Amino acid sequence: METVLSGIRPTGNLHLGNYYGAVTSFVKLQDIYRCFFFIADWHSLTTHPTPDNIQRSARTILAEYMACGLDPEKSTIYVQSDVPEVAELYLYLNMNAYLGELGRVTSFKEKARKQPDNVNAGLLTYPTLMTADIIIHKANKVPVGKDQEQNMEMARKFARRFNQMYKVDFFPEPESFSLSKDGGIKIPGLDGSGKMGKSDDNCIFLCDEPSVIRKKVMKAVTDAGPQTPNSEKPEVIQNLFTLLEIVSTKDTHDYFNDKWNDCSLLYGELKKKLAEDIIAVTAPIRERIKEYSSNTELLEKVARRGAEKGRESASKTLREVREIIGFKVY
Ligand code: TYM
Repeated sequence: METVLSGIRPTGNLHLGNYYGAVTSFVKLQDIYRCFFFIADWHSLTTHPTPDNIQRSARTILAEYMACGLDPEKSTIYVQSDVPEVAELYLYLNMNAYLGELGRVTSFKEKARKQPDNVNAGLLTYPTLMTADIIIHKANKVPVGKDQEQNMEMARKFARRFNQMYKVDFFPEPESFSLSKDGGIKIPGLDGSGKMGKSDDNCIFLCDEPSVIRKKVMKAVTDAGPQTPNSEKPEVIQNLFTLLEIVSTKDTHDYFNDKWNDCSLLYGELKKKLAEDIIAVTAPIRERIKEYSSNTELLEKVARRGAEKGRESASKTLREVREIIGFKVY
């Protein structure tokens, strides 16, 4: 049976980008495949969070993912640092990953520019840790957003390299998975930027109250309005239409698109409708987030059980990897 795996760095609350980029696909796949979902707390160490921060964020994300429909009966849900086998595989992969190729990764170059005082080795080797996350369970399908494409390419490359190096057909080459027709999804930000990230003025979080969502959407960046019939939409406006395509009905999208085309579109009207449609999607999730967040006992039980199942699968792979590499197996 094929294996599906996905993960998230616990560095804030879940936003619409995470939800449509990865979570919705994962939730659908958990009925069909062997599924693993994990919280990438080791990955978050690149920005030096405090111990309290790490623990709280992992719990928050766990509650939020469960509120989105991740089911511990169907999927193995675990915290990365509970499965130390991943770190050993990361070590092996690092021996066959080269400075040149790691240094060329776009997200590394961006982070190095953003945090010049903290260009640590963990940032550089992010793609090898991500590869270890995926191939430790021999995952075939990885639901991720478009922004992870390059990391996924690296994962395929490192899996292939291991197989070639040891002349085995051991690790499958993992494929990105998206429910959208044209490959990965990229949910745009509200500040006119290309991608919804984790900053407050750019994001709608799943836990945002309706009043907050209305305020954020009404403040979304726009321009002076359509000037020429049937003209192409500038990026900031296309962003709003992309969000409509995702959360609203086709009729709603077409209604505003026609108004854009005949230059009668009022951004206020579009934003009002967009905000209400986002609220319709997020309101039931927000309610469940509140329930799960207050159920510490359940969260701990899920994480404990997930750690057991995650380790069982990971240690099986690692035993075989050690043997392939040539370490003595007792
Ligand atoms: P992270 O924590 O940045 O995001 C988690 C997931 O959400 C997706 N995503 C988006 N999708 C569409 N539009 C957006 N605006 C948007 N923003 C975020 C991301 O593509 C991702 O799927 N490196 C990963 C975490 C990770 C991982 C892994 C994922 C570590 N190891 C192994 C899969 C498999 C990351 O930083 O995601």
